[in-house]
Amino acid sequence: MILERNNFPNVKQIAKELDRSGLKDQLKDFKSLIAIYQLRHAGANEIGTKLENLDDEYSVNYDHNPIHHMEERMKSINSLLRKLKKKGYPITIDSISKNIHDIAGIRVVTNYIEDIYKVEDALVRQSDITLLKRKDYIKEPKPSGYRSLHIVVSVPVFQSNGVFDVPVEVQIRTIGMDMWASLEHKLRYKTDVPADKVEKHTANLQKYAGDLYDIETRMQEIFKDLQ
Ligand code: GTP
Ligand code: MG
Repeated sequence: MILERNNFPNVKQIAKELDRSGLKDQLKDFKSLIAIYQLRHAGANEIGTKLENLDDEYSVNYDHNPIHHMEERMKSINSLLRKLKKKGYPITIDSISKNIHDIAGIRVVTNYIEDIYKVEDALVRQSDITLLKRKDYIKEPKPSGYRSLHIVVSVPVFQSNGVFDVPVEVQIRTIGMDMWASLEHKLRYKTDVPADKVEKHTANLQKYAGDLYDIETRMQEIFKDLQ
């Protein structure tokens, strides 16, 4: 399955989002912000190509390909500013460059739980990749029930003026975990749902996350038995 790639973020779009945010005065150095987005996008391209190559290789050399599909996304300006505020980081180019590692993100959706760690290992083992951060929300799910493996890797990007180590966030999860996260995300961000409904659905979703994990574990056992 190939990666759904993003085109390089539209510069006009970033300008418009920044305008709307009301923080344009605080972030005067607009050109540098675009440059950060360009570099991070180049990083996502490098990691995306590595994952596509692994995907090809799995199809050729193995009966089972752990990768089901992949998506790439660049963080919106709104969510970038929200994150800076939430974490109490200064709203400056320097602070964005240093503190925000998930401007470029790739999501890898796998068939089975064990596939998640296979993909992680095959990526992180590559000699030009450095693992910067790792959060295993499968071993320790979030209170919501959210499960996924989040890693931030750094990859060298060759630009005209030299080589730069660029951070890219990779979220790896199963189809089941992905389905759950999409629905839970909808519940979390839909503003017109009555409070009692939110409470009920939140509680159910928390339980279903565990149920799904159970089912996925049992289906993985069947799959392994058939290998
Ligand atoms: P942010 O990127 O600002 O959210 O913080 P962080 O760097 O501490 O990231 P974290 O490891 O908590 O993961 C953040 C991302 O994971 C979010 O942008 C979502 O895509 C996903 N995520 C984390 N928790 C949940 C959750 O409870 N439900 C859903 N649906 N997604 C989640
Ligand atoms: Mg994030």
